[in-house]
Parts: sequence; C-alpha cells; structure tokens
Amino acid sequence: MTQSILNSFVERARVAAASDNATFAIRKLLKSSFSESETMADAIASLETDEVMLFEDEFCSIWTCRYNSDVVLAPHEHCMPVYIAVYRGTKVEVLYKREPTRLRHGGNKVISAGEVTSLGADAIHAITAEGFGQSHAIHIYEEPLTAVKRSLFGWVSGEEVDFTMENFHAMQRQKPDMEEFR
Ligand SMILES: [Fe+2]
Repeated sequence: MTQSILNSFVERARVAAASDNATFAIRKLLKSSFSESETMADAIASLETDEVMLFEDEFCSIWTCRYNSDVVLAPHEHCMPVYIAVYRGTKVEVLYKREPTRLRHGGNKVISAGEVTSLGADAIHAITAEGFGQSHAIHIYEEPLTAVKRSLFGWVSGEEVDFTMENFHAMQRQKPDMEEFR
C-alpha cells in the first residue's frame, strides 16, 4: 500500500512533467493528491531516509522530503523551478538573496499541510520545519536535479560551496542559534 501510492503518484507526475503545460499540470496533480494526504504522509513516513529520490528523467526529479524543526539545512540553489506539496506537519522555507559580500535574509515562508508552493529557478533557500514532528512533503523539480551542478552558500558570507551531501549536512545549523528565527 505504502509503495503503491507513491508508485502511482510518480506515474502521474511523469505524465504531468512531460506535458506541454507542465507547470499547470504539476500544480494540479499536487493539489489533487491532498485527497489522499494521510496515505501519502504515511508512505513518506515509512521510507528509510529523510530524502528519497523516487524518480528522475529529462523532464523532472521527484523526491520525498522530511524535515526536522530543530535543525536548519544550509542555503542552496536548485537552478530550476520546484513545486512542493506538504502532507503532514509544517515546512519552513528560509529565503535568501545573494549580495556581493553577504547573504541577505529575505523572510521565512511557512507551508502547512494541505498547501502547495513553488520556488523559482533563482531561489536560494534553507529548510526546516515548525511545530511537533517532521514535515512530510513531495518536491517535483522541473529538470533532472542530480544532473545539474549547483551550489550551497555560506550562511553569512554567501560564498559558494560545492553542493555535496557531505557539505550540506556539515553546514546545517541549530535553529535556536539563528537570527532568522528571533
Ligand atoms: Fe532545496
């Protein structure tokens, strides 16, 4: 049951992403998936790791994502649009703008269960959750994310750091230490 709902979601997402009006089709699919929010959330909860790539081709990259409310994952870019649906908990996008010598905090965007949001190709964000328990979401990127060379950015200086999972985890911060949450 758990895997079958994700498998059937991926089949529909592949069709949406390859369609002529992919943006519209992906958003429509994500909104319609809330009719099975609990099953989607349970399926995401049952996976072994917090971030799992379910599928990738030339048109999309589809991930399940769980985030914790005590840590904030480091600022990074995707270099492509992404659509996000939250099924359980509350996800927080910590948004930044890159300036010549620093990263400027541009505010926090809270996405509750039952909401779809998107980030543009030039977005830089750090990620966390809010409240009790992890947030459970699906991310659909409009291109093959793993095929793109992209960067992390120093929290203060905004300096570019190669995006590797090792760097991503090494740069994470504890939320109580961060001005962005005061
Ligand atoms: Fe991201």
